[in-house]
Order: sequence, then C-alpha cells, then structure tokens
Amino acid sequence: MVMAIKSYVLAALSAASTLAAVVQPAPRASSFVTISGSHFDIDGEVGYFAGTNCYWCPFTYNTAEVDTTLSDIASSGLKVVRVLGFSDWNTLPPTGEIWFQLLNATGSIINTGADGLQNLDYVVASAEQHGLKLIIPLVNNWDDFGGINAYVNAFGGNATSWFTNAAAQSQYRTYIHAVVSRYINSTAIFAWELANEPRCAGCDTGVIAEWATGVSQYIKSLDPNHLVTLGDEGLGLSTGDGSYPYSYASGTDFAANIQIESLDFGTFHLYPDGWGETYPWGSSWVQTHAQACVEAGKICIMEEYGAVTDRCTNMVPWQNASMASLGMGGDLFWQWGETFVSGYGDSYSINYGSSDWHCVVQDHVAAISGKSPPPSTTTLTGPTASGSCSILWGQCGGNGYLGATCCAQGTCTYLNDWYSQCQP
Ligand SMILES: *[C@@H]1O[C@H](CO)[C@@H](O)[C@H](O)[C@H]1NC(C)=O
Ligand SMILES: *[C@@H]1O[C@H](CO)[C@@H](O)[C@H](O)[C@H]1NC(C)=O
Ligand SMILES: *[C@@H]1O[C@H](CO)[C@@H](O)[C@H](O)[C@H]1NC(C)=O
Ligand SMILES: *[C@@H]1O[C@H](CO)[C@@H](O)[C@H](O)[C@H]1NC(C)=O
Repeated sequence: MVMAIKSYVLAALSAASTLAAVVQPAPRASSFVTISGSHFDIDGEVGYFAGTNCYWCPFTYNTAEVDTTLSDIASSGLKVVRVLGFSDWNTLPPTGEIWFQLLNATGSIINTGADGLQNLDYVVASAEQHGLKLIIPLVNNWDDFGGINAYVNAFGGNATSWFTNAAAQSQYRTYIHAVVSRYINSTAIFAWELANEPRCAGCDTGVIAEWATGVSQYIKSLDPNHLVTLGDEGLGLSTGDGSYPYSYASGTDFAANIQIESLDFGTFHLYPDGWGETYPWGSSWVQTHAQACVEAGKICIMEEYGAVTDRCTNMVPWQNASMASLGMGGDLFWQWGETFVSGYGDSYSINYGSSDWHCVVQDHVAAISGKSPPPSTTTLTGPTASGSCSILWGQCGGNGYLGATCCAQGTCTYLNDWYSQCQP
C-alpha cells in the first residue's frame, strides 16, 4: 500500500519535471522562503501550502526514522514541518538523553555535542535533502522539554515575570544566538519562532507584545535570511464570539501582535476538543483570524490544528475555510504519525497512509494543487516590498499580479506567465 503510493507520487513528480523542462525553466532547487503578494514563495512556488508537525524529530538518534519520516512527509506533497528547537534542563539528564541547554544561574551550558544540537543539525540537513522547510520554536510555554519553567527554576521569578526577567531573557537570547547562527545560511529554515504557544496569564497584553517586539528585532539583527514569527495560539481577538479562546485572559492580543513589524507572519492554533468548542466553530475561528491578518497586512498560517474524532468530517472544513480565506498562507496539522515511531504519538496523530491521512493530507494537497495558479493577486503590506520594488526572490510580475514590477535587488526574470521573480 505505502510502496504503491510512493511510486505513484514519484511517477507524477518525474512527469511534472519533464514537462517543466520542456515548457518552462525549472524552478530553482532551493532558496530562502519569502513573502510574495498574499502568499509565501517556497523555492519559487508561490501559493498556499500544507504542512505538519513533527515535534520529536530532533529527539531521536535513529536517523533512518528521521529520514523516512521526512521522506514520507515530502512525498505526500507537504512542504513545511514544524520541529521543536528547544530541550531545556536544570540538571544534567541521564547519559544518552538528548538535551540542548542546561539552565543554571551560575553557568548555563548550550550542548553542541552528539547528544545535543547535532541532532537538530541532522533534521535540518535531512529537510534540505527532502526539499522541506522547517519552522523552529525556541522555547516552550509549557513544561514539556523544559520550557519557561526551566528558566524560572534557574533564574527565579515565575512564568509571567519570565518575559521581563533580565537574567532569563539574557540566557534565552544567548540560546537563540547559538541556534540561529548555526543555520543562518540554511535554505531548510522556513522561520524562527519565538515560543511555542506563549501565554502570560492575567498579564496586560503589552507584556508579550513588548517582549515579542524586542526578541524578533534581535533575531532579525542576527539573521537577515529567514522569516520570524511569534508562535502564539491566536488567543485574544475582539471580532469573535467572545468565548474563552477569543478572550484576552492569556495575555495575548492577536490583532495587535501581528502588527509588530519584525514579525513577518502570524500564527494561530485550533483545538476545539481542548477549548470546549464545537468542531464547526473551528471554521469561524479561521475566518475571524484571517480577517485580522488582512487588516494587519500580514499572511497567517494555522500552524497546529487537530480533532480527536472523525478527522475527515471535522478537520477538512477548517482546511477549506483556510484555503478560501484571503490572508491565509498555509496550514500545518498536528501531528504527523508513523507506525514505526513509538512513544511520540498522541490522540491527534495521523499516521502516514491511514484513512485519515487520505482526507487530511492527500485530498488536501490535491485540492491545493488544483487551485494553481494561485490567486496571489493581492499584495499584503509586509516585508516583501523594499521601497516600492520587490526584494531578491520576490515576485515582480505575472498574470493578475498587482504588486511591484521592479526589483530592489537583482533582475526581474520571467519564469512563467504567472510568475516573474527578482533573481541575482
Ligand atoms: C547550579 O549549579 C551549581 C553548581 O553546579 C549548583 O550548586 C546549583 O545547585 C545549581 N542551581 C540550580 C538551581 O540547579
Ligand atoms: C509572578 O511575579 C510577579 C512579579 O513578582 C508577581 O506580581 C505575580 O503575582 C507573580 N505571579 C504568580 C502567579 O505568582
Ligand atoms: C553564511 O554565509 C555568509 C555569506 O556567504 C558567510 O559569510 C558566513 O560565514 C556563513 N555563515 C555560516 C554559519 O555558514
Ligand atoms: C473541501 O474542499 C474540497 C475541494 O475543493 C471539496 O471537494 C470538499 O467537498 C470540501 N469539503 C468540505 C467539507 O467543505
């Protein structure tokens, strides 16, 4: 079954590239992700993309399993994978455990060894080989893999004062510097993400906004190549139905945060099971957020979403709502499953080749490719434009394209009727 699917996809791919070679110059193999009009440009393809989460990918020594997983993700037509970029500890873990950072007020250690960041190196290298792009969050709001509480244990304060705790923030930036500079030239990085689901319970929303502004500017100062995003769940939005996820109780203001200039795009998550909402409610969650993104001139992605039951019935409408909404650039379901991986599954896992995979992944990817050429005719205000001309690798022409037709850097190069690009 699985083998048959793989060879079908391979056959389709080689047919497509033969066609491309005859009709058009093939898109370049690999480049940094940029924003083009109202969509992302991933290796020369502008349009809506689908992706997934593999949080555990950096936490195994079994590199064959990493390769197989990323190969299965890529051959399924997904383009983006979100993997964790943190593993914070307060005491040295048992030998063999993979850890990235030891936090201690009198001397923290960033582990670049074989039981440390070299495992993330492997995932980045494997993603490069498989033509996938990674979104990498740099700290966890929750206690899994350490999180903010690991900093609190080392530097004092609590989970809400963490955002302004000088010693904790200094070490967090030291860690960011170590990770970001490691992959600064890698075309496999889609974006750096400040945190997984940052919340500041009961705080003024200005606390997270100020923190996000400072940290994102810091990352931009280190790395001009990659996009930066917040990683929040989209909690706190006045245009919804006023139910709990729309409230500001968690200290995030979605509409305000996506206006932060140094955040290139917005994120939100969707878990009706955990939030006490119905499944159909999810589509309005998508639409209200997309509208806020359009108003902020930013592209957004639904970067985690899942349903515990009846995935085909419950998740597909959210995907359709997202694809149909201006302002939405893609979605990443939670989470990719493989039958050979034990210990990392949860009630949201969608196993490769399963019946849920057929509707949530295969049908979704087919629907996206059926949409091409993308309706990328609206230019959202964002980091695309440099002055009034497009940046390097940005779009500079094409049928229906309404954005800048000059290049701030490089030359506007015709790729096909739908797409011209600023190339060096
Ligand atoms: C930090 O490290 C020192 C020296 O190894 C140790 O004595 C201390 O208990 C550690 N602090 C914490 C909070 O773990
Ligand atoms: C966290 O620390 C801040 C600053 O000291 C304090 O105002 C707040 O009440 C603390 N929060 C909790 C939940 O203890
Ligand atoms: C990244 O590329 C720049 C420009 O080519 C180079 O100067 C720098 O050393 C590279 N950094 C890494 C970490 O490879
Ligand atoms: C979702 O979109 C696909 C493709 O456009 C369509 O075939 C399908 O009926 C839609 N499903 C739902 C539940 O909206």
